Amino acid sequence: MSCRCFGLFDWFKGNDSQDQTQGQEFATDNVRLFSYNSLRSATSGFHPSNRIGGGGFGVVYRGVLRDDTQVAIKTLSAESKQGSREFVTEIDMISNIRHPNLVELIGCCVDDKHRILVYEYLENNSLASVLLGSRSKYIALDWSKRAAICIGTASGIAFLHYEAVPRIVHRDIKASNILLDGNFHPKIGDFGLAKLFPDNVTHLSTRVAGTVGYLAPEYAHLGQLTKKADVYSFGVLILEIVSGRSSSKAAFGVELMLLVEWTWKLREEERLLEIVDPELSEYPEDEVIRFIKVGLFCTQAAAHQRPTMKQVLEMLSKDVQLNEKQLTEAGVYRGYRRMSSESSSSLNTKRKQSVDPSSSTNIVSSHSITEMLPR
Ligand SMILES: Nc1ncnc2c1ncn2[C@@H]1O[C@H](COP(=O)(O)OP(=O)(O)O)[C@@H](O)[C@H]1O
Ligand SMILES: [Mg+2]
Repeated sequence: MSCRCFGLFDWFKGNDSQDQTQGQEFATDNVRLFSYNSLRSATSGFHPSNRIGGGGFGVVYRGVLRDDTQVAIKTLSAESKQGSREFVTEIDMISNIRHPNLVELIGCCVDDKHRILVYEYLENNSLASVLLGSRSKYIALDWSKRAAICIGTASGIAFLHYEAVPRIVHRDIKASNILLDGNFHPKIGDFGLAKLFPDNVTHLSTRVAGTVGYLAPEYAHLGQLTKKADVYSFGVLILEIVSGRSSSKAAFGVELMLLVEWTWKLREEERLLEIVDPELSEYPEDEVIRFIKVGLFCTQAAAHQRPTMKQVLEMLSKDVQLNEKQLTEAGVYRGYRRMSSESSSSLNTKRKQSVDPSSSTNIVSSHSITEMLPR
């Protein structure tokens, strides 16, 4: 895939930097180019009261453009090399694809040291802030909204895996990257870690990046990336949506199990419905059990036993009978916190510590070399 944004950068380099501070905006095929000044005025000088998220490589602000459009403005810290790489990745991945369940990139700013992405603004922030965040931001989501969020997110991932050209593995599916519009319609955001996944490639052997609590074990331990890593993370996400609890906190039972471990234990004890969020006073039991089971199928240890996202979509949207007997054992990666000796040589580099209490630690490990393995 050609990277349009490199063209953008070249274009900027060739221009008088004076020009770039005059507040003009430029248009390319898919992304608008914004000047730093125009984004500064859209956010009242990046005022803290306009801050709506972030903490990893920069801060996300709500902004209002001159034509009154609301936007989300994601600033990347100037010093971070990792941030620059994610900036390029993010533009490259989403400037060419459109889907109702993927956040729309409106434009970007490459102005002196500044690297900024401009997105459509989603009024209800993220699933993490609504469902798993502080009490002050909590919004009650009834079952029909939660089911629609699961199905919409599955549909977005299935699009990335099977329709986007080339195919894309997101690698960081989690509650803080699922954004919600005014009607709680979900849109997947944060493509900073995404990888292109051409059809003739079965897996990538890559640096491990993602978030503890959502990482598929084969990917966390061996750096083997397939679409099934997203399937695993999505399975964890379903369990969070049903339970209203965060997967990143080991907080269940006396053994302080992770949400995935706890769900599998409850299944063994035939107490599966105990995982359901106590805030959900009314819900269709059969459907909720089906969703939990989809979460179980997605979080199996053996990647090839997990369903594809197309199958997941079908399992969620149709009243199908899921044959539990086909379930094999659960896969759980507990992260460096509980793997002290085992993990010290591999997964020990923190990518970032999020300030959002509802989101867990992102990591990057360089224990394997990035390469593509053709089939
Ligand atoms: N388009 C948007 N509309 C509303 N809020 C957003 C938008 N994009 C990001 N946010 C908020 O900012 C947070 C961080 O954004 P994200 O793109 O995930 O960056 P990071 O790389 O820091 O994780 C999100 O979890 C969400 O709370
Ligand atoms: Mg994020």
